[in-house]
Amino acid sequence: MTDERTPRDRRTAGRDFEVDLDDVLDEDGDEEDGLFDNLLSGEPIFENKEVLRPSYTPDELPHRTDQINNMATILVAALRGETPSNILIYGKTGTGKTASAKFVSQELQKTSQRYDVPSEVQYINCEVTDTQYRVLAQLANTFIEQNRDWIDRRTRELEELHEQAREDPSALLDTEFDDPPDLRERIDALEADRAEMDDVPMTGWPTDRVYNEFFDAVDYVERVAVIMLDEIDKLVEKSGDDTLYNLSRMNSELSNSRVSIIGISNDLKFTDFLDPRVKSSLGEEEIVFPPYDANQLRDILQHRSKVSFKPDVLSEDVIPLCAAFAAREHGDARRALDLLRTAGELAERDQEETVTEAHVRRAQDKIELDRVVEVVRTLPTQSKLVLYAIMVLEKNGVHNINTGEVYNIYKRLCEELDTDVLTQRRVTDLISELDMLGIVNAVVVSKGRYGRTKEISLSVPIEETEAVLRADSRIGDIDDITPFVQARFEN
Ligand SMILES: Nc1ncnc2c1ncn2[C@@H]1O[C@H](COP(=O)(O)OP(=O)(O)OP(=O)(O)O)[C@@H](O)[C@H]1O
Ligand SMILES: [Mg+2]
Repeated sequence: MTDERTPRDRRTAGRDFEVDLDDVLDEDGDEEDGLFDNLLSGEPIFENKEVLRPSYTPDELPHRTDQINNMATILVAALRGETPSNILIYGKTGTGKTASAKFVSQELQKTSQRYDVPSEVQYINCEVTDTQYRVLAQLANTFIEQNRDWIDRRTRELEELHEQAREDPSALLDTEFDDPPDLRERIDALEADRAEMDDVPMTGWPTDRVYNEFFDAVDYVERVAVIMLDEIDKLVEKSGDDTLYNLSRMNSELSNSRVSIIGISNDLKFTDFLDPRVKSSLGEEEIVFPPYDANQLRDILQHRSKVSFKPDVLSEDVIPLCAAFAAREHGDARRALDLLRTAGELAERDQEETVTEAHVRRAQDKIELDRVVEVVRTLPTQSKLVLYAIMVLEKNGVHNINTGEVYNIYKRLCEELDTDVLTQRRVTDLISELDMLGIVNAVVVSKGRYGRTKEISLSVPIEETEAVLRADSRIGDIDDITPFVQARFEN
């Protein structure tokens, strides 16, 4: 069935909610387009945009079969009631580590429910939960909650059994209980345990105590718990390897349960900071996620685009181009998906019916700019001031800026803001950092007998950079920047 209504028909149809007509009619009595009308009237490009977002876990992960099978082969031990080896997963950003690990844990959970075996995966993102205390408290509380549920189920069952046994004592024949009072004692004991199970507060206790609570909670019932620590490098960076040390030694002390660890990281350097015992324990098994090449990214995008876009809205070269751009960014599937989604959004905004190569190119620029804006926005104040000085110079037509010139303006800015002035040496370091972040370009040039000097230029768009810097309330207070530059010529 084709829809033969005009866009305007479609816009006005279904307006059965109450509106004040004066608001939508202009003086001629015509209907005025509201803020959202134009946007709504465009032919929708997307079928389901959520599918392209990073939070979505796809149920199919092309080109990760080996890694997924590898993980499953190790983790299947949990379903047999044995302790799986610890696993360290690593690979560059956007190579599908989190998505694959979550996929495998969902499957494990499903199977363990099907066969009614007590094995489970606890996922923790250590970028968010980044101290030993918080990791242990979060785990403790998860297990405490499960234990409470377990006790509730178990007491219900036992109460029923008690009921039956009172009518017919043979009901206890094949059970661990001698008689109804014995059973009653067990029920009371469970209820007493239940009453003692309080949550661990998210701050305030000594860490030892949190660890003990966690230990008791895991060991309360028989289970194999796989603890997945995503972005594990952030945890080690922030609070050392104590957590890993404790977790990796637990099994020798647990009586009912077993724990195994999956660590995920895009930065292998963190293992240099680990105690050698922790390092070898964590790395019992290692699984590498290599970057995707352009062809693999194409397959990934093809899969996801089928569900996310309306049929036939992508022109032929869109997916290959997104894949090619992302392959250049070290094979990052997240970037590829961002590009595709952003290209679709730009097409939608232009009210076009197809997404074209041009949209992808604009999407690439937009994402790059967003990245720069984010980097600049989160710079420390001193770096912002150094960058601001460089920007002021460029804005006033100074080219091949040298460090001394930047330093002069920087000093003036510090005085203006009444803030500490760093040494020229430190400022030179900050310039190198900005260079490394890709915000400025600093090349060392030889000046013959005058030695060598740095020539600095901005490598990001000047207007956006200025806007982001001035959004910082302190820098925003600086009124007129020209006098600073003139001051430079006076020196
Ligand atoms: N093989 C794949 N098939 C489909 N989608 C994928 C695949 N690999 C990655 N993705 C998608 O790409 C995005 C990034 O993947 P993921 O979050 O797993 O990367 P990561 O390796 O964990 O990166 P980081 O190190 O930055 O955390 C997600 O949206 C994910 O769904
Ligand atoms: Mg990840």
